[in-house]
Amino acid sequence: MKGLLKYLPHIILLIFTLSRTVQNKTRKAEGEPCECQFQRCICKYLSDCKVLYDRKDIDYCNRKHGLVCCPQEPKTPNITPAELASEFACQKYTEMISNDCAREFITGGELARAKEFPPAALVGRFIMETKKHDWFCGGTLISERFVLTASHCTKAGVINRVRLGDLDFSSNKDDEGVQEFSVSQVISHSQYDRYDSYNDIMLLELNGTVTFTDYVQPACLLTPSRTVYNNSVFWAVGWGAVDHSTNMSPQLRRVQLRKLENCGPVATEAYNLLRGLRERTQFCAHGETNDTCRGDSGGPLLITFPSKEEKYKCLYMVAGIISKGQIECGSQDIPSLNTNVTAFVRFIEYHVWPTKNNKS
Ligand SMILES: *[C@@H]1O[C@H](CO)[C@@H](O)[C@H](O)[C@H]1NC(C)=O
Ligand SMILES: *[C@@H]1O[C@H](CO)[C@@H](O)[C@H](O)[C@H]1NC(C)=O
Ligand SMILES: *[C@@H]1O[C@H](CO)[C@@H](O)[C@H](O)[C@H]1NC(C)=O
Ligand SMILES: *[C@@H]1O[C@H](CO)[C@@H](O)[C@H](O)[C@H]1NC(C)=O
Repeated sequence: MKGLLKYLPHIILLIFTLSRTVQNKTRKAEGEPCECQFQRCICKYLSDCKVLYDRKDIDYCNRKHGLVCCPQEPKTPNITPAELASEFACQKYTEMISNDCAREFITGGELARAKEFPPAALVGRFIMETKKHDWFCGGTLISERFVLTASHCTKAGVINRVRLGDLDFSSNKDDEGVQEFSVSQVISHSQYDRYDSYNDIMLLELNGTVTFTDYVQPACLLTPSRTVYNNSVFWAVGWGAVDHSTNMSPQLRRVQLRKLENCGPVATEAYNLLRGLRERTQFCAHGETNDTCRGDSGGPLLITFPSKEEKYKCLYMVAGIISKGQIECGSQDIPSLNTNVTAFVRFIEYHVWPTKNNKS
């Protein structure tokens, strides 16, 4: 013991030197680019970084000075004035929802948190005889009365229920934000064919008016003029199975996906596309480690508004609908196939915001 004490100053010095060496290797100055997943990242002070970190996930540029490796927002033009019915609706939503969202993403982890994805909807049916719910698809709330989902969801059963504001459908603990509705009308795209996967888009009209809260909020449509916002990194959210089981996961999960270019051959083979990938109305996406899975079907691929759009900062835009995902979850490296919402803005507006012009 005494001998050890004698060397204590040396040991401390050694540790100090070693840690300095490690630090020096990764030390970067403010504004310098750094390595990160998905986005372009630069070194910023933690307080200047919009993304909120879980302590364990922080990549430091310079730990001592509190510089972290922060994802950068791409440079984007200002939002164009509303022209389409869905854009006017979106503008109206900014006044209907609270403007103090914590739209700062916690990196890492895969469970969604309360109020993090308020447009996420559970789609399924309520079975009268058993008084039980059978949830089999996801959806996106897009107005006070409509939920967007995929046509193929009707293959799993008669759709008569939608639940909003839920995180874990197996528990009643988090039900303070839940709103549940019957479905009064199912509007599938007229050119959807159950034997292929084109035009896989469907609207569900609810039996009542949704109350927008911190738990339940609509997503705006990603209209053509807004595709300038980065359109290749998405948040996919859903209750899809997480392993080989056929069951849905009771908890809402989130995963960051990236658009996959040139995926025609892969998608055509993986999903038996009769006439190949239709680039105008479909696109592929995949995740770095985790992907979407069966049960996520019908659910959204969301993007955020650029944070400089102060008014819109609490809203999402829905860019895609999950049409086909891996059958054997997590076992194959197959991208998901998604319906391009932008290509169906007219179809959606026709039913959700009918006007003299588009209804004639
Ligand atoms: C969107 O972001 C991704 C990842 O950072 C980047 O590769 C892509 O070029 C960006 N696209 C646009 C249109 O800015
Ligand atoms: C991927 O899923 C696994 C287990 O399902 C989870 O532990 C991990 O955090 C997820 N990764 C990401 C990046 O979400
Ligand atoms: C709509 O459906 C839900 C669930 O079935 C029911 O609780 C609610 O009373 C209905 N609302 C209206 C306005 O009919
Ligand atoms: C969806 O289609 C629009 C054109 O309608 C296109 O600009 C956009 O890039 C497509 N989105 C994706 C994710 O491929």
